[in-house]
Amino acid sequence: MTDLFKEKAQDWDANDMVRGLSTGIANAIQANVALDETLQVMDFGAGTGLIALQIADKVNKVTAVDVSQAMLDKLQAKAELHGKVEALCQNILEQPLGIRFDLIVSAMAMHHVEDTDKMVACLAEHLKPGGRIALADLDEEDGSFHSVDAKGVYHTGFDRETLQSLLSRHGFKDIRFVTAHVLNKSDRLYPVFLVLATGA
Ligand SMILES: C[S@@+](CC[C@H](N)C(=O)[O-])C[C@H]1O[C@@H](n2cnc3c(N)ncnc32)[C@H](O)[C@@H]1O
Repeated sequence: MTDLFKEKAQDWDANDMVRGLSTGIANAIQANVALDETLQVMDFGAGTGLIALQIADKVNKVTAVDVSQAMLDKLQAKAELHGKVEALCQNILEQPLGIRFDLIVSAMAMHHVEDTDKMVACLAEHLKPGGRIALADLDEEDGSFHSVDAKGVYHTGFDRETLQSLLSRHGFKDIRFVTAHVLNKSDRLYPVFLVLATGA
C-alpha cells in the first residue's frame, strides 16, 4: 500500500497548526475523559504520536495504530514514548488486532478512511464492554480545507447528527460532541469536534 504520509511525516511535527490542533484535542480528551493508569488505550491514526505524547504518562499503555510507517517511524524516534507506546503499522479495518481497549482516541484520521460505517464497526469491535471513544475530526466543511489534489481524503469533515446516528446504530451510548479546537487556515475557520461515547 502506498504510504500517503511519507513526505508529510518528515516535517509533520514542525507545523504550528498541527501542533496547536494536537494540543487542543489532547486537552479536550483530558477535560472529558477520566484518564488513569489502568487504561489500555488505542490511538487510531496515531501518526507521529502528537496525541500519545500528551496522554501516555496518564494511562497504562497506548497502542498507536496507523497505516503510515513513515509517520510511525517519527513516533518511534521519540524516546519519551518508549515503554509506554507500542506502534503498529496495520490497517485494522482489514486485519483486526484481536485485542480490546478501555479507550480509543483518534485525531484527524477519520476523514482519511473511506468507509466510515466499517470504521465505526471496527472501533466498536476493538472496545472492551463499556469502553469509551474520544474521536476528533473536522466538522463538515465546504471542501476548502484540503487541496483539490490531496490523496486519501474521503470526507470534507463530518456532520455531527449523521455521525451521532451512525454511532448509535453501532450500539454506542451517551454520545456527545464538544468543540475541541478551531483551526485557522488561510484566514478561514474550521471547527474540530471531539465526539465522546460509550460502547455497548
Ligand atoms: C492527518 S494525520 C493525523 C495524525 C495524528 N493523529 C495527529 O493528530 O497528528 C492522519 C493519520 O491517519 C492515518 N490513517 C489513514 N488511514 C488510516 C487507517 N485506515 N488506519 C489507521 N490510520 C490511518 C494516516 O496514515 C495519518 O497518519
